[in-house]
Amino acid sequence: MTQSSSSSQSNHISSTQGVPAVAGIPKHVAIIMDGNGRWATKRFLPRVAGHSQGLDTVRDIVKACGDLGVEHLTLFAFSSENWRRPAEEVGFLMKLFLTALEKEISRLHRNNVRLRLIGDLSRFDPVIQERVSTAVGQTSNNTGLNLTIAANYGGRWDILQAMRSCLKQHPGLSPDELSEELLTPYLSMSYAPEPDLFIRTGGEQRISNFLLWQLAYTELYFTDVLWPDFDAKELAKSFAWYRDRERRFGRTSAQVSSSDPAANPSHKANS
Ligand code: IPE
Ligand code: IPE
Ligand code: MG
Repeated sequence: MTQSSSSSQSNHISSTQGVPAVAGIPKHVAIIMDGNGRWATKRFLPRVAGHSQGLDTVRDIVKACGDLGVEHLTLFAFSSENWRRPAEEVGFLMKLFLTALEKEISRLHRNNVRLRLIGDLSRFDPVIQERVSTAVGQTSNNTGLNLTIAANYGGRWDILQAMRSCLKQHPGLSPDELSEELLTPYLSMSYAPEPDLFIRTGGEQRISNFLLWQLAYTELYFTDVLWPDFDAKELAKSFAWYRDRERRFGRTSAQVSSSDPAANPSHKANS
């Protein structure tokens, strides 16, 4: 596991305000874990069996990311739109979330993982909310992988809640004074750099209201592999793909490959 200064909010360069440094291993990986239902249906199992199997994958990918030196791993577990699913499936997911919080936390703690949650937790059962704060508190001094679970999360909700908090803190702010710098500390992932690599399993090529603001310059990797079948080998494939991206952040390719480090604080992900 790597060390990281996860509590600092202002050290992270915004991809629209500057050119972030790029490394061969993505610092921040954000994943839409999709395809659980189809995995189960293919096996003539109820959809929820896919969710249980998906939890095993979470365990493996958390370990693999820690081993590879990823600093931040963010997993989309439940979207603000997933409440639209049948009540039994939502109920199952809530129970799974609760048991995972109870059962996995000691392993995470042992592995020096720091857990955080993003999303509107107020809609969850009070028991879940209490377990969340216990688990988050228990791991708050850990210095290894920063694991963020997005639950009842929506990218639009995030931008709106940031805007509301920002305006509350700055009453009378004139529209012209509103800036990226002023707003971003209120976004729910202000403690992390923007994701370098986004992965979506399950074959769909969409963002589904995940980190809309933060994905501005993220490399987007889509795979047909269903989440319960995703493993360390598939993760390594996505990292290899990532290393071949030329991250230009608006510049030309010639500028990126120029050897002047002052003009080019970052270029290819494998440099
Ligand atoms: C993702 O798998 C898990 C959640 C959204 C909770 P799905 O349940 O969406 O699986 P598919 O897309 O129906 O196969
Ligand atoms: C996105 O998956 C949300 C999570 C993985 C938690 P969905 O399966 O809900 O997305 P859509 O509905 O296919 O876009
Ligand atoms: Mg899905």
